[in-house]
Amino acid sequence: MRNSDIAISIKNLTKYYPKLKALDDISFDVKRGDFFAFLGPNGAGKTTTINVITGLSNYNQGKVKVFGYDTVEEYQQTRRLVGLCAQEFNFDPFLTIRQLLVYQAGYFGIMPGIASKRADELLERFQLTEKRNVKHRALSGGMKKRLLLCRALIHDPEIIILDEPTAGCDLELKFLIWDYLAQLNREGKTIFLTTHYMEEAEKLCKTLGIINHGRIRRIGEKKAVLQDKSLEDVFLEVTGAE
Ligand SMILES: Nc1ncnc2c1ncn2[C@@H]1O[C@H](COP(=O)(O)OP(=O)(O)O)[C@@H](O)[C@H]1O
Ligand SMILES: [Mg+2]
Repeated sequence: MRNSDIAISIKNLTKYYPKLKALDDISFDVKRGDFFAFLGPNGAGKTTTINVITGLSNYNQGKVKVFGYDTVEEYQQTRRLVGLCAQEFNFDPFLTIRQLLVYQAGYFGIMPGIASKRADELLERFQLTEKRNVKHRALSGGMKKRLLLCRALIHDPEIIILDEPTAGCDLELKFLIWDYLAQLNREGKTIFLTTHYMEEAEKLCKTLGIINHGRIRRIGEKKAVLQDKSLEDVFLEVTGAE
């Protein structure tokens, strides 16, 4: 890694969709080992930011780096360092869930023997061992969510990026995911998640970023941000939608 202290660095990032400025000159860093939550109402620009960091979306201005590598010019290096748990399910319909994990590991150059072992460990950890030989459409919604997590983790990435990981989950699954993310963070992994649940941000993160209408309102230590009276409009909008 070229820069091992700063996991994600975003500088003056601006992104337009045809009729909308989705990200308006946003800048912030996420330190290695941090647990960062990006909180904001629907449409704030959270998913767009994740798509830019992971190279899924282009942008108009700015610089985005992962451990010092540019996400456009050095896409391969950055992609390997990141595990993405997206908001929507996008699995290959022809593979069993175990195959799906092993193939995903293959994209990152992991040998099948090692990949299979890791896939089995993750399936066990997320209580999917029984389902390992079925295709994803035979899974319940909660199981698919757990499979998304397994896939994000299969290449043992340094940074785990999760887009609203517990949206629509029942309590049991929510706590399973929270526990596992806290454990990964204790083991030194950098976590970046988006949420529109105040509770999730309050419980989990160390650093909290507030985004609304494509602009950063504040980034800082969780407690200080949550006590910032000038952010009440965003907090109200977020809790009002719950
Ligand atoms: N592919 C797209 N084309 C046009 N507008 C988009 C597209 N994706 C997102 N948007 C718009 O960009 C804004 C930010 O969206 P998004 O990043 O998905 O917000 P969030 O994840 O915070 O809910 C919203 O107004 C959304 O409607
Ligand atoms: Mg989103």
